[in-house]
Amino acid sequence: MHTLDELGQLFSQKFSVNHFPDQPQGLYEPNNYFLSIGGKRIRPLLVLMANELFGDIHEDSWKVAFALELMHNFTLIHDDIMDDAPVRRGKATVHELYGASTAILAGDVMLIRAYQYLNQIDISYLRVINEIFNQTSTEICEGQQYDMAFEERTDVKLDEYLKMISLKTSVLLAASLKMGSIIGGASVRNQDHLYQFGLNLGIAFQIQDDYLDCFGDPEKFGKMIGGDIKKNKKTFLAIHLQNVANETEKHELQQLKSATEEKKVERTLAIMKNNGVDQWAWDLKQEYFNKAMYHLEEIAVISARKKELKYLAEFLISREH
Ligand code: IPE
Ligand code: IPE
Ligand code: MG
Ligand code: MG
Ligand code: MG
Repeated sequence: MHTLDELGQLFSQKFSVNHFPDQPQGLYEPNNYFLSIGGKRIRPLLVLMANELFGDIHEDSWKVAFALELMHNFTLIHDDIMDDAPVRRGKATVHELYGASTAILAGDVMLIRAYQYLNQIDISYLRVINEIFNQTSTEICEGQQYDMAFEERTDVKLDEYLKMISLKTSVLLAASLKMGSIIGGASVRNQDHLYQFGLNLGIAFQIQDDYLDCFGDPEKFGKMIGGDIKKNKKTFLAIHLQNVANETEKHELQQLKSATEEKKVERTLAIMKNNGVDQWAWDLKQEYFNKAMYHLEEIAVISARKKELKYLAEFLISREH
């Protein structure tokens, strides 16, 4: 079995090949740029680790790992257009550097390359894995649509938020684990527990992302702080704030809608802090992490084999980037 660090290094090595031809440069250079500026490579690690819970890493897991990382990067390129985000991974976003039209196309071709890797796996499980991939991609689109639609609403409830983040973020982590486990030969029961582990971990992961968007260190986070506030995103922090703010604060929050972006971010963050929204976030995240851990424990392999997955899960919810 490999440690998390070993797998991270192995994946980086293998993934650093050319995924695209040279021409047209205007299309492929943006993708090469985006893949070269980093990323935690979590989804491929989940595939590999899930496979390794049940047996040696099969060549096909590398293909699926490549496919998932490429499809994730496609979602990020398009997400940054939707969110008007200028920075990611501490660098300029693709649409910022090359324009929205190129970013759309670069994302499209990234997703197609993902399918090409996927298509190389053994026919015995190609269909099943392809179907999980398609189902998951569809759900991400649904989640992203809810995310945008919520920007226009002021009455989004916590359960709607949870559904939205499950779709836009968690299902991909869950699917990565399930695909790896299928290749590793896991029983259906174990596949299901891994999927549930990923779903709950993904919720905790997105809560941490939303928390960092407000309270992170921009140097470490690599994204603009306050981006969600600027775009009126209905994160759980924003939803909870509406529930706990007093009348004066609610009035101020209303007024801030017509203030400068800088002032809006600065004051909203201050009111959040006044109301202990950051602590509340921490507790909610922990709740989902605990649910994830329950499902990890239920997987029928000796606990020593689960150690590295547990490390990864702990890292994901305490990460600063
Ligand atoms: C960012 O995902 C998008 C979310 C689902 C929050 P990651 O935090 O995994 O992004 P990279 O790939 O490491 O940059
Ligand atoms: C991203 O959610 C989900 C997907 C990319 C599908 P966010 O919009 O919160 O992700 P970041 O913060 O830009 O990475
Ligand atoms: Mg988004
Ligand atoms: Mg975004
Ligand atoms: Mg975010």
